[in-house]
Amino acid sequence: MQTRVLFVCLGNICRSPTAHGVFEKRVQEAGLADKVLVDSAATAAFHVGSSPDPRSIRAAASRGYDLTPQRARQVTKDDFQVFDLILPMDRINLSNLRAIQPKDFAGHLGLFLDFSKQNQYTQVPDPYNDSAEGFELVLDLVEDAAAGLLRHIVDTRIKV
Ligand code: 4NP
Repeated sequence: MQTRVLFVCLGNICRSPTAHGVFEKRVQEAGLADKVLVDSAATAAFHVGSSPDPRSIRAAASRGYDLTPQRARQVTKDDFQVFDLILPMDRINLSNLRAIQPKDFAGHLGLFLDFSKQNQYTQVPDPYNDSAEGFELVLDLVEDAAAGLLRHIVDTRIKV
């Protein structure tokens, strides 16, 4: 059975595309590309159809991740029928998702950084109005949580 993971942020041009690209690479490296589907989406519509922010593309490329194939889209109620884990970057994204979550959703909706080992940050800070360091911090936090998320999926959904 396939596990489907959706990362969500406000614009789907900075944080969630980074999580999407990093986690997809981890999944491929683990040989699990046929078992784990990865996608990302925005709570807001303003960047729908856009490529990731050039600053995110650049920062990710310097660590070996290609975000260029991605295009922003907006999350919908139907995503709750498709995805097993819906992982927002911050608490505002989480509350926006809770507002559209169908009552019968049986999957997991929770902050991505709940899978992180570090305990300084519980949310991924929005880097949009920040300097280059903000984009490096996003990558640091996403790489850490991606490792924990992959372990969790392997332990609870793949290894039996
Ligand atoms: P993201 O960052 O939610 O990580 O994609 C943002 C992107 C765009 C805007 C805000 C945050 N914006 O206001 O346009």
